Amino acid sequence: MGTSETTPLINQNPDLQSYYASLESRIGYRLILGGTRHFGYYEPGTWWPFPVKKALRRMEDHLFDTLRLPAGATVLDAGCGHGHVAIHMARRNLNVQAIDVVERHVARAQRNVLAAGLPNAITVQRGDYHHLEGVPTESLDGVYTMETIVHATDPKAVLEGFFRVLKPGGSIVLFEYAHSIPQDAPAEVAKMFDQVNEYAAMPANADFEHGTLPSLVQGAGFEEVEMGDLSENVKPMLRLFFLLAYIPYIIIRFLGIEKYFVNTVAAIVGYRYFDIHRYVTVRATKPANPDQPSFEPKKEQ
Ligand SMILES: C[S@@+](CC[C@H](N)C(=O)[O-])C[C@H]1O[C@@H](n2cnc3c(N)ncnc32)[C@H](O)[C@@H]1O
Repeated sequence: MGTSETTPLINQNPDLQSYYASLESRIGYRLILGGTRHFGYYEPGTWWPFPVKKALRRMEDHLFDTLRLPAGATVLDAGCGHGHVAIHMARRNLNVQAIDVVERHVARAQRNVLAAGLPNAITVQRGDYHHLEGVPTESLDGVYTMETIVHATDPKAVLEGFFRVLKPGGSIVLFEYAHSIPQDAPAEVAKMFDQVNEYAAMPANADFEHGTLPSLVQGAGFEEVEMGDLSENVKPMLRLFFLLAYIPYIIIRFLGIEKYFVNTVAAIVGYRYFDIHRYVTVRATKPANPDQPSFEPKKEQ
């Protein structure tokens, strides 16, 4: 990352590594989402979820629009997966520094970036967003996460790191999940959410109630915090996952092997408890330093 010559620190997180190494995770994402690992964006009320690829790109467009950065701006993609979001951002003229903690994802993202012909616009490195020490302070115009902070072991430290690396006036955009289980919900509901959070290595998601993430963002020093709720926009994909997972889940539950098929459990939870589970967006800015413009456009060559 940046000009650092040292190897970035990586938290040992065997649960996360084994979740992403599982066959269910690898094959499921590949078959249904082509290796992208985020939800698609639909007009509310849509019933037909195909083509899925278009919905994925629409979600990335929504992320791009939420960032509100000019062409040539430099952003950090924290938790880039196979790099599809970074590639879409680069096609929209952003420069992207992408990191991911899973070696296989990094290698795949690097190949995808090359295949897309974008090696000048995107760098991909192995890195842990808890450890951005190698990224110079106030060096970036934007930071975004697409469905990954739920995996953080210390979300407060992650947001403080994002704050440090952003230039004054820079923007942060987080597309993540939240849920609040009603006090009177049957025990079964909490049990299923707990299973998903534990087996999919999402400790932060266990704490992300409605409003938690915006408070953390504010606590890290950001201002102008804006929140959005895309739950209705992701519902067609939640329904698709639910239908695909329904019969396998009955078998998995009967055999008591939920641990090995957590995405199947998550597919049931996400749609059955749609009113509890939310897809949230948070946008905020680092307070601007009035003496310094937040973004200096590149000089024409
Ligand atoms: C659900 S996937 C989303 C991937 C990508 N953003 C996308 O939308 O396709 C979450 C990604 O975050 C990565 N990740 C999880 N914890 C991380 C960490 N501490 N630092 C960097 N990447 C992390 C995972 O390896 C995984 O690739």
